[in-house]
Amino acid sequence: MQSNDRSVGVSLLLQDLRAGTAQLHVALEKRLPFFSPALDHAHYQRLVQAYYGFYQPLEQRLRDSGQTPDDFDLAVRLKTPTLRSDLLALGLSDRAVDQLPLCDTLPAILSAPACLGVLYVLEGATLGGQILRREIAARLNLDAANGGAFLDIYGAATGRRWRDFTDYLATRPFDASSRQAVVDAAQQTFACFERWLDRTEVLL
Ligand code: HEM
Repeated sequence: MQSNDRSVGVSLLLQDLRAGTAQLHVALEKRLPFFSPALDHAHYQRLVQAYYGFYQPLEQRLRDSGQTPDDFDLAVRLKTPTLRSDLLALGLSDRAVDQLPLCDTLPAILSAPACLGVLYVLEGATLGGQILRREIAARLNLDAANGGAFLDIYGAATGRRWRDFTDYLATRPFDASSRQAVVDAAQQTFACFERWLDRTEVLL
């Protein structure tokens, strides 16, 4: 039994998010090439370019949406600047980064629940990043200094920042239909990301 309304809210929203996205996560994880023997520097670079092409317009949309709750600090969680600096470290020029193709099929962000659903996916991805970071360091000799910073974006603070995020979700007084809007946006984010990665031909 949960002890109070707040923890019931956390538990329900997280349970809904996990139940609603677990299959999408497994499906995408299987197709990402991080553990593929075929992954080399060139493929890794194309992968980071594809990530940039998704995160840049999606984070721009989050910023422009006007739906980020006033008490949520979005700026400290934006990951596009790190993806850009990884691409520069991998040898792209600023001009080349600016000319990369950008995804134009993105989740709609028309409400605070939708905004938080998108953020759930982008924040959750930092957890897997901790595993991928080790793999990329071992296989390609890449770390935060030479093109692998995105995978370790929160470093030692990864666990704490994830807990801060889920604690924040817990403070949202969402009813069932708002929770569904969070889950819908999270599902759309996974789906749009996979379609984009497919289109840019970086998946297995
Ligand atoms: C090969 C690639 C990936 C691996 C190996 C991986 C692995 C993981 C692992 C180990 C966790 C933590 C589970 C836990 O602590 O309970 C996690 C959580 C998560 N990952 Fe991934 N991941 C990958 C890619 C992604 C991508 C591309 C996204 C989204 C863009 C993503 C979104 C999430 C989310 C939202 C969670 C949080 C689930 C929750 O606890 O509520 N992951 N992932």
